Amino acid sequence: QTTREKPSALLGFQAVPPSQEDGVTVAEGYSASVLLPWGQPLSSDGPDWAKDASNTAEEAAQQVGSHHDGMHFFPLGKGKGKDASRHGLLVLNHEYVDQTLLNTDGDEEITQEKVDKALASHGVTIIEVRLTDGEWRTVDSEHNRKVTATTPVEVSGPVPADHPALQADDPQVRGTINNCSHGVTPWNTYLACEENFNSYFGTADGSWEPTPEQNRYGINAEGFGYRWHEADPRFDVARNPKELNRFGWVVEIDPFDTDHTPVKRTALGRVKHEGAIITESRARVVVYTGDDQDGDYIYKFVGSQPWKSVRAKGESPLDDGTLYVARFDDDGSGEWLPLAFGEGPLTSDNGWEDQADVLLRTREAADAVGATPMDRPEWIAVQPGTQDVFCSLTNGEAGEGDANPRNPNSYGHIIKWHEENGHNTATTFTWDIFVLAGDPAYDDAVDLDEDSIFGSPDGLWFDPDGRLWIQTDVSNSVQNDPDAGYDNIGNNQMLAADPDTGEIRRFLTGPKGAEITGVVTTPDQRTMFVNVQHPGEETATIGEPTPEDPRAVSNWPDHDPDGRPRSATIVIRKDDGGVIGT
Ligand code: FEO
Ligand code: CA
Ligand code: CA
Ligand code: CA
Repeated sequence: QTTREKPSALLGFQAVPPSQEDGVTVAEGYSASVLLPWGQPLSSDGPDWAKDASNTAEEAAQQVGSHHDGMHFFPLGKGKGKDASRHGLLVLNHEYVDQTLLNTDGDEEITQEKVDKALASHGVTIIEVRLTDGEWRTVDSEHNRKVTATTPVEVSGPVPADHPALQADDPQVRGTINNCSHGVTPWNTYLACEENFNSYFGTADGSWEPTPEQNRYGINAEGFGYRWHEADPRFDVARNPKELNRFGWVVEIDPFDTDHTPVKRTALGRVKHEGAIITESRARVVVYTGDDQDGDYIYKFVGSQPWKSVRAKGESPLDDGTLYVARFDDDGSGEWLPLAFGEGPLTSDNGWEDQADVLLRTREAADAVGATPMDRPEWIAVQPGTQDVFCSLTNGEAGEGDANPRNPNSYGHIIKWHEENGHNTATTFTWDIFVLAGDPAYDDAVDLDEDSIFGSPDGLWFDPDGRLWIQTDVSNSVQNDPDAGYDNIGNNQMLAADPDTGEIRRFLTGPKGAEITGVVTTPDQRTMFVNVQHPGEETATIGEPTPEDPRAVSNWPDHDPDGRPRSATIVIRKDDGGVIGT
């Protein structure tokens, strides 16, 4: 474990204390304001947000989606100077919906209109933003659009749209769903990742049973309780099972091209992709992804050819390469195991048909080659300079070996690895634990203090100076459990770490019940965008908490007694106009 020396030259702000308030607190000398709440129209003549949730599905399709997550800022201004940092496209994921908040009458009865509204509230928002007179505002623009769970999409790579496994009821493959984290390609496109796609499928057919493959992806008759199958046969897993195979992929979106059709890149594998973080090594693209399930794996894709020469031929560098899965050995070394048809156990003798079969059943292929089960792999970030790779393991109990040293691991940890010779294309690496999260009051293995205690790390991002931003996603059930050991940690938060000294300092705390996820700065690092997801999760009721109901009720950000909590993108600026984090 890294020795935590103080003070770090990278971290120039005073830590904020843990909070249980229903608001956002940032370090002294910084200000945060709300830019893009759920339901805000994409253009000034679009449908206004209805605080009683009476907006229709058609209206929701013209508004910012729900449950904001991964996000990137694409400059529109020219050059790397001031202009590039004052004008751009914000592209953000909308991971899921809370149907009790989405509909005026909640979710007791599921109708096609409610399913359609939910589908329109998922996906990705692309919206133009500009800094004028010291304030960020949205701009009416032809760029402003949404990719939702019904948008037509293309499918490329070894599992194309005409593959037999993808022949569902609708001849057109549509939509992306449960977009958690993301990636940005060197050619300036956005990758939205499909995480818990299984949660939307179900059936009332009592005779239906999942296949072993469906079982491995967590498909069951109830899903996560959305019950869309009651109104929409698209999501009935007994009637339309091949619809499932259209999800679990990474989706490429060109935010600059308003006519661009999103493309599912199947060579990157089919798992519950948390994110798809890209770096370049030896002219190839390398894409890291965590499969966020307790006991699942960390993957990387390495392009087969230099990406610029592939692009010059009019092809995608994400369509041809090798997908690997990680094995972490207890001696601190590790190996990337190829998931290639015909290699190792992935042969026809063992029932594998071809590379498309390996990708459609990525999890089973990774089981077969002996990958290391991890404590829920979430975001991954590559350190500028060293090219070392950091991954959040949010919590869990199914991880194995010294790479998952606590069992159960209710606080999570961040693991770090160094690829051989610093080449991200390498097939071997060495690893160590960057930090064990938690509270030393309950676990004396934890080397953190009041300025840095946190749990359940999720979002990770390196800014250009090399600060590692850490965002947390402690579930509400844990926060509300007095015996969970989270009582000193407070609401979800964002911290910054110096990756070299190991020092960690809390920068921001979020509203009640909210997760903090998604972070990016403008190129000049003088504006930071952060997403606040699901304020009031689970315990949300309409209105303010009362003495009779003091649960983690949130009414952020509007605090309108007739309103409801809303996920939102916030903008953080330093009051003296300086670089965020200094
Ligand atoms: Fe969507 Fe794994 O967090
Ligand atoms: Ca996440
Ligand atoms: Ca999470
Ligand atoms: Ca969450």
